Amino acid sequence: MTVGIDLIHFATSDYVLGLDTFAAEKNIDVNKFYNGIGQEKMSIAPPDEDIITLAAKATAPLLDQIDKNSITAILFATESGIDQSKSAGAFLHGLLELPNRCRVVEFKQACYAGTAALQMAAALASQNPNENILVVASDIARYDQDSSGEATQGCGAVAMLVKQNPRILAIEPGSGYYTEDVYDFWRPNHRTTALVDGKYSTKVYLNSLKQTWDYFTEATPRRFDDIEHFCYHIPFSRMTEKAHKTLTKKVGVQLDEATFKSQICPGQVYNRVVGNSYCASLYIGFCSFLDNAEQALDGKRFGFFSYGSGSVAEFFTGVIQPGYQMHIMKDSHQAQIQNRLALSYEQYVSFYYQHPLEADDIAFERTNKGSFRLDKIENNVRFYQQ
Ligand code: HMG
Repeated sequence: MTVGIDLIHFATSDYVLGLDTFAAEKNIDVNKFYNGIGQEKMSIAPPDEDIITLAAKATAPLLDQIDKNSITAILFATESGIDQSKSAGAFLHGLLELPNRCRVVEFKQACYAGTAALQMAAALASQNPNENILVVASDIARYDQDSSGEATQGCGAVAMLVKQNPRILAIEPGSGYYTEDVYDFWRPNHRTTALVDGKYSTKVYLNSLKQTWDYFTEATPRRFDDIEHFCYHIPFSRMTEKAHKTLTKKVGVQLDEATFKSQICPGQVYNRVVGNSYCASLYIGFCSFLDNAEQALDGKRFGFFSYGSGSVAEFFTGVIQPGYQMHIMKDSHQAQIQNRLALSYEQYVSFYYQHPLEADDIAFERTNKGSFRLDKIENNVRFYQQ
């Protein structure tokens, strides 16, 4: 019996800001973004798009393929939470009209929470063949205007169905994990934007990778040569190159350029034009790898490195299942990315910095063109539309 990802689909917003537009406005050489951090565009959420509407867009195509009454749990990972008490999963459960015999909980630990949810879902599913668990990771990355992180914003959600005998990825037992209490990136309750010590955060990320690798090789018999491809958490796509260089140096492996690229690059394609989607980012990278790999991946082992600031990290592996290509949703992923509307810098500023996102009472202008939108907040109750 195997356990893992049976179906996976991601969604992003309907709007995009080109980093060429951003660079021109800020008077920065655009090559700093294209080459220096490896980003071209960032998905921008209008005010009537939130983590729930993104999550619903990501999840709906999965529910079209299964009996939605078979869903036994929603494990919802986010660091863009909309309520301190009611979990984001409960909003999603209502919007998608899921069965009442279902448990719902929200997971938080910066970008790592999606992996925590996935591992917990896999553990639950391994005990019971009737578990059909929705793991949903959804985030909108927001930094202050003119801060170092501003060019690395983005948004997206990923939905994964986790069960026994999955059709896409079997997660292997054993992983290496590492926690260190640091202030590299955080968002106090009173803020809508994150604070970051950018350079320090990249150092903690890379140190966490080395620590999780050491533990992974103690906890499992698997070694670098047993892993064909690597998906790293992607705050910006150059980070995955820094990560893979760090890992290959640590294990003492010298790869030619073509092999180095084939081990990581298909995973960067979507994130390069979507931007950071925090909890969803690693798994959008995985979708990107599945959709953009030049060769079929059946039977290939993937290494996954999940990092969440603050900080918690985990390295684990999984094996792509035979016939996976019949179940991936490449057309939907590519259509969403291609159909986004380009924003001017002024429109982006208006969406992100001039519209209140929260109030006791507020009605949102209709800008979200997706199948789910946030209509209004009335007496502190959120009203969504399908
Ligand atoms: P910065 O100060 O904007 O950029 O900060 P920089 O001056 O360090 O330049 C970046 C790179 O571009 C450098 O290359 C430059 O040389 C190069 P590197 O030394 O890194 O190889 N460069 C150019 N290249 C070509 N042409 C040019 C040019 N100019 C410069 N003209 C920083 C960059 C990443 C710090 C910033 O974007 C930031 O603060 N980002 C947010 C934090 C972040 O993403 N951290 C990543 C690790 S932590 C993480 O992943 C967790 C996170 O997802 C949150 C969570 O867990 O919830 C963020």
